Amino acid sequence: MVASALASEGKTLTSTNLALTLSESYQRKVLLVDADLRRPALHDVFQVPNLMGLGDGLRNKQEQKLPLIQVSPTLTLLPAGKPDPDPMSGLTSERMKRVLAEASEQFDWVILDTPPVAILPDANLVAAMVDVIVLVVDSGRTSYTAVQKAIESVGRDRIMGVVLNRVKDRDLAAHYGYSSYSYKYGGRYGRSY
Ligand SMILES: Nc1ncnc2c1ncn2[C@@H]1O[C@H](COP(=O)(O)OP(=O)(O)O)[C@@H](O)[C@H]1O
Ligand SMILES: [Mg+2]
Repeated sequence: MVASALASEGKTLTSTNLALTLSESYQRKVLLVDADLRRPALHDVFQVPNLMGLGDGLRNKQEQKLPLIQVSPTLTLLPAGKPDPDPMSGLTSERMKRVLAEASEQFDWVILDTPPVAILPDANLVAAMVDVIVLVVDSGRTSYTAVQKAIESVGRDRIMGVVLNRVKDRDLAAHYGYSSYSYKYGGRYGRSY
């Protein structure tokens, strides 16, 4: 599961990049799931229809086949379906657990794009069903406190790694105690400025 404390930190971008890297570069079988049922986005990224998706599958009384979209031979997309203002019962259902269990049998990687942890309860519900969490942090914007709260609410032991997003060269240089000039050119000319 790809998670973050707040909106627009880069969850959808990170889950897409992760899915493309694992499916294209590593040739693994990947299922990318849009589990942000209130504000679906992955169908826009891949320019595919979002008429039906995970949300519909969870809401329907009868179990139908989920509308999977084959993006490439190794990448399959499960869109969210039309926005659902109240997806919590679906996300906590036995059906959701079965969807994830079946998916993990059929794919090497199942990647879930999710809503912000600090704003909605949805992601916390999903967090309990996944193996590991990748936490995206928008550097320079998200406060340390917000990140800490997100870590506590999903569970520190479930976080496999953190993606520090939107890092500027300038910030890195400052962190390592170089001026941006010496950071960029010092090595090349063999001396610092
Ligand atoms: N490192 C980045 N560089 C450039 N654009 C970015 C970067 N990270 C995110 N974005 C853009 O910012 C917007 C919000 O990112 P998104 O992945 O949709 O966030 P979230 O899913 O966490 O709400 C999108 O338009 C995305 O393409
Ligand atoms: Mg998103």
